[in-house]
Formats: sequence, C-alpha cells, structure tokens
Amino acid sequence: MSRVLIVGSEGQIGSQLSKELSKEIDFDNLFLSDICDESKSDLKYFRLDALSYDDLKKNILDNDISEVYHLAAILSAKGEKDPMLTWNLNMNSLFNILNLAKEKIIKKVFWPSSIAVFGDHSSKNNTPQFTDKEPITVYGISKLAGENWCKYYNERYGTDVRSLRFPGVISYNTLPGGGTTDYANDIFHSFKSGKNYNCYLKENTILPMIYIDDAINGIVKLMESPKDNLRIKSSYNISGFSTSPKMIAEELKNINKEFKVEYKSDFRQIIADSWPNSIKDKYAREDWDWKENFDLKKTVKEMISKLNIR
Ligand code: SER
Repeated sequence: MSRVLIVGSEGQIGSQLSKELSKEIDFDNLFLSDICDESKSDLKYFRLDALSYDDLKKNILDNDISEVYHLAAILSAKGEKDPMLTWNLNMNSLFNILNLAKEKIIKKVFWPSSIAVFGDHSSKNNTPQFTDKEPITVYGISKLAGENWCKYYNERYGTDVRSLRFPGVISYNTLPGGGTTDYANDIFHSFKSGKNYNCYLKENTILPMIYIDDAINGIVKLMESPKDNLRIKSSYNISGFSTSPKMIAEELKNINKEFKVEYKSDFRQIIADSWPNSIKDKYAREDWDWKENFDLKKTVKEMISKLNIR
C-alpha cells in the first residue's frame, strides 16, 4: 500500500485530487500539505514550504511516504508579475522532489505541466505532442524546463515521474489563482451572483479546456498505468474540449437570457494568443486509454448543478 503526499493540496487541482484519492487510500496513508496554516479538508495536513528540501525530506521520511503529487506552482498570468519568484518556486520545488526520487526516498511522482509550454511557433490546431515550443511566459518556460528535467531524471536515474500537460481546468469548488484560463471559472461565479461578467480575453479566443473530473481521472489513470506502457517520459498532451468566452456565454444565455458579458482584453490576451486552440492527445489515448467524459455542454450543465445555480 502506497503512502501518499499531495504538495499544494489547497489549490484548484489539489483540493479535488485529495477527495478522489481519499476514496481509495486509508485516512492514515494520505497526507496533504500546502503553504497555508490549515487545510479546508478533514484529512491529515501539515504546512510545508516546497522550497525547503530539508523539510520535505524530513516529512517524507517521518511519514514513510512513497508517492508524491507535486502541484505547487505560480500560474501564467500571476507569474509575469514576478518572473524570478515564479522561476524559483516552480523549478526549485520540482528539483527537490526529483532529487528525493533520485535518492529512491520516493518511488513515484506526479507533476503537472501545461499548454503554456507551447508558443507562437507551435502549430495552433490539434497541436501535437512534438512541435516547436517557445513559451512566452515564465510559467511556460519553467514548465517546459521541468518537463525536460522529468525526462532526464526518468531516463538517467530510472525515476518514475509522470506528467500531464493540462489545458485550462474548469472546476466548481476551488478557483484557480492567476492563470490565463481563469475566465472559464470566473464567468460561472458572475452568472451565479446575477452580475455581468467583464472578460479579459476577446470573445472568440479559443483555448483547450478540461473539466475537473476529467483532469482528476486523467491523473489517477496515468498513475495507475504500468510504467512500461508510458512512451512519453516528459509530459503527455491531454485535452477535454476547446471553447471561447463567447461559446460559454452563449450556453449561459440559454439558461438566463439577461446574462451579459463585456469584453476588454488585457495582457492575458497575448498569452492566450500564443497557446494552442486545440490539442492532439493521441499518445495519452494509445498508452493509457485516456478518454474525456465532458464536452462544453456537459461541463456547463455540471457547473450549474454543482454551484447550485437555479
Ligand atoms: N490554467 C493555466 C494558466 O492559465 C494553464 O496551465 O496559467
């Protein structure tokens, strides 16, 4: 039985992942950690700074942890406000985990990458696993470097580090913080509170997205797959569906025709324009049977129901 630690458990992905893992893992074998003092969940939690190698190592050894989900990061839009801080957190926390895996203190790691690894010269539609990558944000630069380091550690030191390149994640309970795709979450909250939404992207900006349940299912499936089946040692392309602010707004207007969205793009438009419109995730489908369950319509329906919007 693995003993599991989630680093960054209070964020958008961590808060749902902990719920899902707690269905399969005994209370005593699942540990949550983040930089804040307390957890919103009732699971075992301790405060941890992922930049402190000594603290990480001590907590992992003391609790006999064998598997780590390392989710702590600064996202694309927020990262641009302080590039060096973002590089430091995103890279050095990953190195701490990779080195614990290299030392065989931990056996298995999950670490998320992002569509932010792509850039202006990547093919836009059905972007393949292998294509030119010149990320324009420090977040994207750190994720691309991180992917290459994962591959390096896996091939050079025989570590078992697995990764997915997430598109925008749409979820109902914990909002993302500081991403370029956050609008696809925020818009539902404005809709719920009966307010108009001011969108920071142009109405026809198409980006790949994934509903949180699919994102979690993807992580679980990837981690359960036999290592030998995994041809991609860096990070797998994965996607749910593609959408624009206008397409989501239309779905919401079908529910309440009074709902209005105004568009005034800011610096995040340049980031969004550098990212793919859609993703080809054939390696994930072939290697570990990835399949999304949620398209745009189903996601909107689920968000409406989960957010208790009447
Ligand atoms: N959702 C992320 C962001 O917008 C992309 O990985 O930064």
